[in-house]
Amino acid sequence: MSTRKILATSALPYANGPIHLGHLVEYIQTDMWTRFQKQRGVECYYICADDTHGTPIMLKADNLGIKPEELIAKTYQEHTRDFADFGIVFDNYHSTHSEENREFSSMIYKRLRDKGHISSRSITQAYDPVKEMFLPDRFIKGECPKCGAADQYGDGCEVCGATYSPTDLKNAVSAISGEKPIEKDSEHYFFNLADFTQMLQDWTTAGHLQSEVTNKLAEWLDGGLNQWDISRDAPYFGFEIPDAPGKYFYVWLDAPIGYMASFKNFCDKKGLDFDEFWQKDSETELYHFIGKDIIYFHALFWPAMLSGADFRTPSAIFAHGFLTVNGEKMSKSRGTFIQARTYLNHLNPEYLRYYFAAKLSAGVDDLDLNFDDFSQRVNSDLVGKVVNIASRCSGFIAKRFENKLSDSCAEPELFQSFIAANEEIAKLYENREFGKAMREIMALADKANQYIDEKKPWLMAKEEGKEAELQQVCSMGINLFRLLVAYLKPVLPLMAAQVEEFLNSPLQGWIDEMQPLLGHTINEFKPLMTRVDPEKIAAIVADSQENLEKTPAHSQVTQEKAKQFDPIAPEIEFDDFAKIDLRIAKIIKAEHVEKADKLLKLTLDIGDETRQVFAGIKSAYAPEDLEGKLTVVVANLKPRKMKFGMSEGMVLAAGPGGKDIWVLHPDEGAVAGMRVK
Ligand code: MSP
Ligand code: ZN
Repeated sequence: MSTRKILATSALPYANGPIHLGHLVEYIQTDMWTRFQKQRGVECYYICADDTHGTPIMLKADNLGIKPEELIAKTYQEHTRDFADFGIVFDNYHSTHSEENREFSSMIYKRLRDKGHISSRSITQAYDPVKEMFLPDRFIKGECPKCGAADQYGDGCEVCGATYSPTDLKNAVSAISGEKPIEKDSEHYFFNLADFTQMLQDWTTAGHLQSEVTNKLAEWLDGGLNQWDISRDAPYFGFEIPDAPGKYFYVWLDAPIGYMASFKNFCDKKGLDFDEFWQKDSETELYHFIGKDIIYFHALFWPAMLSGADFRTPSAIFAHGFLTVNGEKMSKSRGTFIQARTYLNHLNPEYLRYYFAAKLSAGVDDLDLNFDDFSQRVNSDLVGKVVNIASRCSGFIAKRFENKLSDSCAEPELFQSFIAANEEIAKLYENREFGKAMREIMALADKANQYIDEKKPWLMAKEEGKEAELQQVCSMGINLFRLLVAYLKPVLPLMAAQVEEFLNSPLQGWIDEMQPLLGHTINEFKPLMTRVDPEKIAAIVADSQENLEKTPAHSQVTQEKAKQFDPIAPEIEFDDFAKIDLRIAKIIKAEHVEKADKLLKLTLDIGDETRQVFAGIKSAYAPEDLEGKLTVVVANLKPRKMKFGMSEGMVLAAGPGGKDIWVLHPDEGAVAGMRVK
């Protein structure tokens, strides 16, 4: 038995929407990793919860005419069912709307406050006088102060690209009530992140993070750390701040504390020692699996909060990239924004588990679910290589030997070579190099198939006097198959359970302890996995498009865009960012536009096509300054008809305006058409 004690978490999914395949990258990854640890005999717990607080959840419940508590209870049922059906097993799945979380949130807040890390000041925000609530920028609409376009959000104009504060909008209205917002002051509470600059500089360079992440954080740290606004005014679905009636903790304050709360809930049920895992000098290991969009919260705010409140900090944060489908961001209209349930209605969840395993590495690169590649990998690796071994051998064992395996091992060295691979494969699992681990395992599967190909049991079956050898070869095949399934058990727990049944023998513990099954009676072989049916994939896409039609229009505005790190740009969801197709463009031609005093007409080469874009940069650039230069454009902006013609994209620029506009030029090495991100 190992002496390691591990607490691993996945990010807590928001309770305002269903689990989709993008989420599953993370939950499946963590599940595989924790299953691996458990199989090795490590005391390891996988803890998660629903993230239930915040404006979007409150408004969604409002729209549905139910209480937020009812909404989150319903979502809890859906989320936990989806996870269970994907074979994801949590040791505890709790909710951030829990007593444990309320207690820890207020304890941590008070400890930070008592040490002087909390300050407060009044800020001015737009306020909906009818709905009687402060409005995040995304919930304010009006006419653009620059170009006059109607129906623009409070954070910027989608037509001319101007950014402004919501108070600049003309004829602004609340997107919730339709009423004109007023300006209102309110006291906000801030966490003084800058107090932790030194601590974070040390922590982020001490081996707790992937190197790409450390580099990214260095940029943020060098830029100086801002105060973090941790309060929201009523009405807000969340926890009231202990010494500030009517003020609530911002959802991101109590969300990571939800990791502790869920674990506390678990400890209370199981009689485990919570403090052993969370006290300052804990010797246990704490790992957070997260997507790369929420690094800021986990690698800056969270360690600072923990350290300021005298708790341990994480051993490591494991960030992963984002899922794309068929090479593009998941898209509702293309039917590639696939909900977990939609997938489950058609396909075996373990196909996806295996596919993700095959694609995952320890880095933060995005991974693509390409349906052709998906089918091919599942068919060739799982069905063609692994399951095939059992189906090739089990028939003879059943028909000719009454399901009994041979008394001795035909090729002890071959068996041993499969065992000898265990350390390398364990190392790859441990380091989250799942893709490499799958390749090692498939190389073993190739070896097993080669052995059978060489021995040709189907010929032995027809020859006289080859009975014993036939039984030995097929038994050998079954024993190798068993080792392969043991290696794959963290990835394919459901298939492993079927194989345990088939082989009439449990697959417990790690492979180094395994012996061949000799003189052992097995059960009837039932098909374990079939090839991917392309019609099923088509059905998933079709159903996903249908889901889109059923999505009510109002859910499009239930996205909080709270001001966060930057005084101008509101925080956006990663999904918003992911929607933007940023490309390197070469400015082939730049021309004046007659009667336009701000615009230049640009002809851009974006790799596969040429685009015409009108850019409001005439005050800062002469056309000849621009021709031949590379720049960055938003390539998937809906074409807009302007007074002077169609504009088919948006050039990115910096600066306040007038003479101070800088069109963004990429570094050397960029080529027109390259994707930026
Ligand atoms: N509620 C926050 C996390 C709080 S943790 C204290 C949140 N929720 S989320 O539902 O938006 O995302 C949950 C996790 O899923 C995040 O780690 C996020 O990065 C991940 N993913 C969401 N969409 C994803 C993809 N398309 N691809 C890969 N991971 C994705 O963030
Ligand atoms: Zn505008």
